[in-house]
Amino acid sequence: MTPADLPPGAPPEVGGVLFTEAAIRARVAKLGARIAADYREREVVLVTVLRGGLFFLADLCRAIDGPARLDFIAITPYQAATHAGAVRITKDLDEDIEGRHVLVVEDIIDTGMTLNYLLGVLRARGPASLEIAVLLDRDQRRIADLPIAYRGFHMPDTFVVGYGLDLGGHLRNLPYIGTLSPAVMERLGVA
Ligand code: IMP
Ligand code: MG
Repeated sequence: MTPADLPPGAPPEVGGVLFTEAAIRARVAKLGARIAADYREREVVLVTVLRGGLFFLADLCRAIDGPARLDFIAITPYQAATHAGAVRITKDLDEDIEGRHVLVVEDIIDTGMTLNYLLGVLRARGPASLEIAVLLDRDQRRIADLPIAYRGFHMPDTFVVGYGLDLGGHLRNLPYIGTLSPAVMERLGVA
């Protein structure tokens, strides 16, 4: 992709567009319709992992024509290498999920360690069902094998920003999902 193909006003960190706003919208609409058909009259609790999952949630929940509630959880990775994938909950759910149909909404799954740990925590609370909806599935470095019920896109092994995904807290608000420019990738030492 040449710079000319970039959306007007794209920040200098962005090297290309992997998924356009229109492609995301179309895919999320399909996922929402499938979720509505699968859960029907059963109320689903959309549990979103802050902060990256927020944008996907906002569009997904409006694409679900059926009863739904929202709740949020925020986590931060433990630094200790001995606890790979373990996370500390910095903001817990507000409501009890026991006996409820829970759908965890995530922006991206890479190794799967974060979500694997989180699922263990949620499962222990006795939900009636527990499923995963993820916008981006980057499975090249997958360690924890997770059953993904609703997947937006498979994607190549590259770092992405936008539509909730950040680079050091920045660029979440891009309406598309973009890759990084070669200069930024070189600076960060990523492929
Ligand atoms: P995992 O535990 O390796 O699956 O890590 C998943 C988490 O890392 C996601 O919830 C994101 O917060 C973050 N992450 C992984 N890849 C990217 C990326 O390409 N851009 C921004 N954040 C990412
Ligand atoms: Mg995340």
